[in-house]
Amino acid sequence: MNNLSEIDEKNIWHPFTSLESADTPILIASAKGVYLNTDDGRKIIDGVSSWWVNIHGHSNEVIAKAIAKQALELEHVIFAGFTHKPAINLSENLLGIFPSNQSKVFFSDNGSTAVEVGLKMAIQYWHNKGNPKTKIIAINGAYHGDTFGSMSVGERGLFTDPFAKHLFATSFIDFPKEGSEENSFEQFKTIADNGDIAAFIYEPLVQGASGMRIYSATILEKILSYAKSKKIICIADEVFTGFGRTGKIFASDHMETKPDIFCVSKGITGGVLPLGVTSCSDEILSAFKTADPAKTFFHGHSYTANPISCAAANASFELLMSQQCQESIARISNQHKAFAGRISKHLNVLSAKSLGTILSIEIKTNEETAYLNSKRKTIYKFFLNNNILLRPLGNVIYVLPPYVISSEELNLIYRSIEKFLDQ
Ligand SMILES: Cc1ncc(COP(=O)(O)O)c(C=O)c1O
Repeated sequence: MNNLSEIDEKNIWHPFTSLESADTPILIASAKGVYLNTDDGRKIIDGVSSWWVNIHGHSNEVIAKAIAKQALELEHVIFAGFTHKPAINLSENLLGIFPSNQSKVFFSDNGSTAVEVGLKMAIQYWHNKGNPKTKIIAINGAYHGDTFGSMSVGERGLFTDPFAKHLFATSFIDFPKEGSEENSFEQFKTIADNGDIAAFIYEPLVQGASGMRIYSATILEKILSYAKSKKIICIADEVFTGFGRTGKIFASDHMETKPDIFCVSKGITGGVLPLGVTSCSDEILSAFKTADPAKTFFHGHSYTANPISCAAANASFELLMSQQCQESIARISNQHKAFAGRISKHLNVLSAKSLGTILSIEIKTNEETAYLNSKRKTIYKFFLNNNILLRPLGNVIYVLPPYVISSEELNLIYRSIEKFLDQ
């Protein structure tokens, strides 16, 4: 252990990490493209895009230059009563690619706050309309963040148990697993028919944290259109699925029915700086368009619409929309699909699926527990020893690389997965 690691151990509390039994964190000195360069000279492929945020590779020059330029012009300014060009340009860029019914953007800091804002917008919509409704429907296994509101609409269990009494009640429907989709729809219908539901929040097409669980666009379409018929506000949490992850710019683009509220973060700045955005439709806005101060949306954060984050997001947007990036997304999607087809037949694989740039492989296990599955540590270590960062969710190995990964680098990851499964 070197001096920096000792100071780290003494001073720093790392996220999702035990204070007692965790391994010493790996010291990263620099990163470029898909590689994380350790202090002691290793090059590790970032197969998980550093918690699903990085899309254009690490230390991307275009984004770095945009940040440096912005930092010398305007680093930050209060966003109530003031505005600035990077935020205005970003609003144009985002509304140009968000579902076409989205009308205004609201800035915050991260995925949890983007969701928190979405939930508050939905609940206050009904309050402002003079028809207070507070009940939310969500899907079992959901993860929407770590603030109290976002925890309340997420899976109850390991992550939320200590706070259970402080979380608001949510109605959960079963995850629409292949073969039991209609059952989930019927559950949704029964709850929706009560007529007192404010909103439905969902991770479109794939639940990330619960194990990269992919589900069908057809059933989500059916649920969304039923929700619409019951005037239930649909909140799409695209924090993970946004900006190309599922093969299209947004997972919501796989469906016809559009969400009323739309939450993004993670990939928005290319994975370089924190930023959250929540947008909504004209219908949602209509409840707030009044001079009555009691109907104002009283929400904001010190760093709302930070100009440097917005500049990074604008640079990332240009890169994302380029032909080169779109071709890379298509190439990764094709490679993943072919590999998923092949590896799903492996003796030790329960199922293998892909959706765009997301590949998810569930390994056979005798254990019930998902997240704390004992295979997790073995898998993590095996790949790290091979200089590949894959951070399994329980017994699920997933690969979601920055889009700049080459075919060869992706094949190297696949070969390593095969090696792991063969042992
Ligand atoms: C779907 C989804 N929503 C919200 C969040 C929370 O985002 P953040 O970690 O930026 O607060 C995550 C994080 O993984 C997520 O996957």
